[in-house]
Amino acid sequence: MSAVVSRQWRLAARPSGGIENDQFEWREETLAEPSDGQVLVRTLYLSLDPTNRIWMSDIDQYMPPVEIGDVMRGGTIGVVEAPGRTGMQVGDIVQGMWGWQSHAVIDARAVRVLPRDTGLPLTAYMSVLGGTGCTAYFGLLDIGQPQPGETVVVSAAAGAVGSIVGQIAKIKDCRVVGIAGSDDKCRWLTDELGFDAAVNYRTETVLEALRRHCPDGIDVGFENVGGDILDAVLTLANFKARIPLCGLIAQYNADGPVPGPYMFRNVLMKRVRIEGFIVTDFIRRFPEAIAALSGWVAEGRIKYRVDVVDGLENAPGAVNKLFDGSNQGKLMVKVSDEPAS
Ligand SMILES: NC(=O)c1ccc[n+]([C@@H]2O[C@H](COP(=O)([O-])OP(=O)(O)OC[C@H]3O[C@@H](n4cnc5c(N)ncnc54)[C@H](OP(=O)(O)O)[C@@H]3O)[C@@H](O)[C@H]2O)c1
Repeated sequence: MSAVVSRQWRLAARPSGGIENDQFEWREETLAEPSDGQVLVRTLYLSLDPTNRIWMSDIDQYMPPVEIGDVMRGGTIGVVEAPGRTGMQVGDIVQGMWGWQSHAVIDARAVRVLPRDTGLPLTAYMSVLGGTGCTAYFGLLDIGQPQPGETVVVSAAAGAVGSIVGQIAKIKDCRVVGIAGSDDKCRWLTDELGFDAAVNYRTETVLEALRRHCPDGIDVGFENVGGDILDAVLTLANFKARIPLCGLIAQYNADGPVPGPYMFRNVLMKRVRIEGFIVTDFIRRFPEAIAALSGWVAEGRIKYRVDVVDGLENAPGAVNKLFDGSNQGKLMVKVSDEPAS
């Protein structure tokens, strides 16, 4: 095998506030040959996620932070170019977490081989049939436990996770209200995804708008944002409401402590259950979620969209789309061309 050079983004500095290009260093590194149990993969797609900002910080979190000098962590889909003695084949499509690099030599046990010829694009496995879909499925169904006729409110509703949450809640016969950051996103939620109502938090007072759209109060508040939005949901929470706490994107760029919810007292008054979760808590049950989501996608009951940025060199700039709201669906980078099938 001739030497393979991996183009990489390594973490160079920890952010204070937003993510900047100079917090990453571009390197080109010649890879060693795969040894026993290892494969050489070429990256096709790299997932960009709000949690990239968390991993860059040296704070107490659910995984160790990325160390300065390490390849930036990230979900990946790639093609096997050298399978060594692993039983894999050249051309197998695999999913893993080898991060922000064009090629990698990795332990074969750290990847899963994706099915071929499903009729779905590979990008589906990085969105609705990947961690995003599983987050929506387990967060809503296991933690939110929505019942038919209940009202479900979803924040960052036009995003990758939120858009799937709302559609699952419709499948479960709930009234669904989404909160998003533009009129276009709100129209997409109501006109194409079947949400009952949508609130543009940039132009409307969220509490007033939710009061109007949730005349029977809120039973499930799927929380992706935090801050004023969480407060509005707590204010309107019904007795025994559930709040799956999936994300707090409004505070990921904060430099210091942020205030807690002002309406925290309603957790007591209304006996609300707020439960944080990380999708990997459910990793053993991913096949269940992927089977259900695949069925709903095939039936046309769940739609999804992906926002694909071209070129690994653009990853550091592109991740900010998640924070300014300019992403239209699951954000990812196309790192190289898919092999002809
Ligand atoms: N717990 C888990 O295991 C898990 C797994 C995956 C994701 N998550 C969390 O789920 C949330 C959504 O992630 P995603 O991957 O699906 O991303 P996404 O929703 O596709 O993109 C993030 C969206 O958040 C909204 N946003 C950003 N800053 C905001 C702010 N200050 N106030 C209100 N909205 C803001 C923007 O939409 P607008 O245009 O509407 O503002 C943006 O498009 C994040 O909090 C993420 O950390 C958690």
